[in-house]
Amino acid sequence: MKHIVSGIQPTGSLNLGTYLGSIKNFVKLQDTYTDHHFLLFIADLHAITIPREKAFLRKTIKELSALYLAAGLKKERLSLFIQSEIEAHSQMAYLLQCFTYMGELERMTQFKEKAQKQEKGVTAGLFTYPSLMAGDILLYDAEYVPVGDDQKQHLELTRDLAERVNNRFDDFFTVPKPLIPEVGARIMSLTEPNKKMSKSDENVKSRILLLDDENIIRKRIMSAVTDSDQTIRFDKENKPGISNLMTIMSAITNQSIETIEASYKDATYQTFKQSVADVVVNELAPIKARYNALINSKELDAFLDEGAEYARKIAMKKVMKFNHKIGLGRKRK
Ligand code: AMP
Ligand code: TRP
Repeated sequence: MKHIVSGIQPTGSLNLGTYLGSIKNFVKLQDTYTDHHFLLFIADLHAITIPREKAFLRKTIKELSALYLAAGLKKERLSLFIQSEIEAHSQMAYLLQCFTYMGELERMTQFKEKAQKQEKGVTAGLFTYPSLMAGDILLYDAEYVPVGDDQKQHLELTRDLAERVNNRFDDFFTVPKPLIPEVGARIMSLTEPNKKMSKSDENVKSRILLLDDENIIRKRIMSAVTDSDQTIRFDKENKPGISNLMTIMSAITNQSIETIEASYKDATYQTFKQSVADVVVNELAPIKARYNALINSKELDAFLDEGAEYARKIAMKKVMKFNHKIGLGRKRK
């Protein structure tokens, strides 16, 4: 079975950016790639590359699992699991670290950004994180990896590592291809539209959380920072705020930017923002209802167990094979 693999870090409540840039895309891909099996996991091993509170981790791991399902993913051809429950991810990460060069890791822009923000010391885990991510993908011989824009560089490294190993040990890994959504690839902050909408932003007004109340969602959109030009036109450079709201609308409704531009040609910012708020509220309401039904259900745990079982079989086999391939342990008779 061909695989599509992706992970998401349990590092905070899900926001609209992650939903549109990543989860909603999975839902679409499930309909497009009907002969692939989807492996989606909660990347908790990635989350601890920066120190986290235990209670916070537990809560977000569970919340995220429920949200994945609530967001409309179908259970057929889907294995949803928690990364740390499959030991092979840690094992593969170590092995791949031994194929990754320091210089490659030093070049990673996400490492540089995150390291700079750390006040207390940068962990070795943060540095080697791209090797862990490469392992997540290569363990399953993923053909495609759907990710947002900001993960492109990590995907490139994964491909380089796969090729490096393949050159030495005759085509051991499938070289994965990134799947980056065309619209909604980058949803920006509502307060500083030149910055990505992020769960780690100190300003809560910069984002919409998937489980936010309707009145909060409306308030955040109505007060989103825009320009003073008063025309609804897509221009990322000069009108980043309005362009961001248009991107949000387009990603949810599947209307093109041109169609949206035409529909709101004579509208005020106020009217346009109200429409965006309606669209977002309507999109999120059913997700929230499904989430509430799932979060404490046996159904969710059972599905996560099933997912782990499917993934574990494949991953264990691959990592044992890799050990053997590179000459570790004893030769099998
Ligand atoms: P993170 O929550 O930062 O681990 O990201 C999970 C996935 O969502 C990754 O594929 C990111 O690229 C994507 N993502 C996160 N924030 C945004 C955003 N503001 N716009 C679009 N995609 C995002
Ligand atoms: N590093 C990714 C992020 O921060 C999450 C992730 C971990 C991932 N492992 C992965 C994504 C494997 C795709 C495939 O968003």
